[in-house]
Amino acid sequence: MIFLDNAATSFPKPESVYTFMDGFYRRAGVNPGRSGYDLCMEAGELLDGTRKLLARFFNGTDPNRLCFAYNSTDALNLAINGLLQAGDHAISTTIEHNSVLRPLHHLKTYGGVEVDLVPFDERGFIDPAEIRRRFKPNTRLVVVNHGSNVVGTVQPIREIGRLCREAGIVFLVDTSQTAGKVPIDVRADFIDVLAFTGHKSLLGPTGIGGLYVADDVVVRQTRAGGTGVRSAEKLHLEEYPYRLEYGTPNILGAAGLYAGVTWVTERGVETIAAHETKLLTMLWTGLNEIDGVRMYCQDALTNHLSVLSFNVEGMEAGDTGTMLDVDHGIACRTGLHCAPLVHEQLGTDKIKGAVRFGIGPFNTEDDIRQAVHGVREIAALQASRQRPRAVPAGKPKA
Ligand SMILES: Cc1ncc(COP(=O)(O)O)c(C=O)c1O
Repeated sequence: MIFLDNAATSFPKPESVYTFMDGFYRRAGVNPGRSGYDLCMEAGELLDGTRKLLARFFNGTDPNRLCFAYNSTDALNLAINGLLQAGDHAISTTIEHNSVLRPLHHLKTYGGVEVDLVPFDERGFIDPAEIRRRFKPNTRLVVVNHGSNVVGTVQPIREIGRLCREAGIVFLVDTSQTAGKVPIDVRADFIDVLAFTGHKSLLGPTGIGGLYVADDVVVRQTRAGGTGVRSAEKLHLEEYPYRLEYGTPNILGAAGLYAGVTWVTERGVETIAAHETKLLTMLWTGLNEIDGVRMYCQDALTNHLSVLSFNVEGMEAGDTGTMLDVDHGIACRTGLHCAPLVHEQLGTDKIKGAVRFGIGPFNTEDDIRQAVHGVREIAALQASRQRPRAVPAGKPKA
C-alpha cells in the first residue's frame, strides 16, 4: 500500500515515536501531577517536558501557556468559545476546516455573534487587505487556517497578524496542516492564540493537540473539572495551563508527541519541507501531463504544502479514489475534506468533492511515480469509455 493520505494523519510515524510511547507507558503510565510518588512525578515531568518542547518549537515565551487538548478541533472550540461572546464580530475565511466553521456557525446561530467569511482568490490565497476591510469596532477575533487541507496553499499569516495587532484584535491561527511543515513563530507572526494537532506533521499519535495562548490574551474557561491541584476551589482554576485543561491528560499521547516533535526538530522543518516539495513538484508535473485531469489552485507551488487535489474529468472523486485503492494500492482521501466552503467556491461540491493526495516525510519518488501511473490509467480508461464506440466489423448497421 502506498500511503498518500498524510494530510488526514501522518503514517507511519518515526520508529522512535512507537518505541518511546511503549517504553514510557509501561514504565510510568500513571496519572500525572496528582501525587508525590516517583512514577507520578515522572509522568508529570513528561507532560511538562512536552509543553516546554512545543512552546520552544513555536517560539512561545511561557511553557505554561501551552495547554493540551484532544486535537485541533477541541483546541479551536476552546479558543473560539472562550474568546467570543454575544455582540462580538468575528472574521474568518472560506478556506477553513469545519473545526472553525462549525463553532463559528454555532455562535452565530445560538450565541449572538456576527461572523464574516472572506473568500480566497482563484489561486487559493486570502488577501490580508480583504480581512482589514471587514474590521469593525466590535471585531473581537480573526481566525485563519494557516495551510489549506484541500488545495495546500499557505496563507500570509504574518501580514494578517500585523493588521490584527495594529487594530487590537485577537488573531487565532489553525496550524493543523502546517505545524511541522512550515516554520511558525508566534511572536514574529503576531499570533495571539495558536491551535495545533499532534497526529499530522508533528508526527505524534491521535488524541492529542492543544493551544498556545500569548501572555496578554484572556481565553475564558468554557468547561470545568478536575485539575489534580487545589481541589477545594469551587471554580475551575484561573491560571495556565490548568485554566484550559480538564481531567486526566492524555500522557500516552504527550509521550508520542514528545518523540514526534523531537524527530521533526532533529530532522529540521525546512529539510522535511524540501523533501516533500520535491515530491509535490514531481506529482504536479506528472498529473499536469495527463489529459482529463484537473487540479485546483495549483498554478504555482510556492507558499504551498505537499497537498494537492484533483479530479478526473467525468468521474466522481469517490470512484477515482476507489480505483486508486483497489486497482493500484494507493490510499488517498476523497470528498469534501471537512472544508465544504472550499468545494463550494471551486464548484466541486456538485461533483462530490475532489481526490486529495497528501505527501508525508516517508514517501518516496517511487510512491509518486506509482500514483501518477495509477491516475494515468484511470484517466485513459475514462477517456475510452467516453469515446463513441466503433461499429464491430461484419455486423449489419441498425
Ligand atoms: C486545516 C485543518 N484544521 C483542523 C483540522 C482538524 O484536526 P483534528 O481532526 O486533529 O481535530 C484538520 C484536520 O484535517 C485540518 O486539516
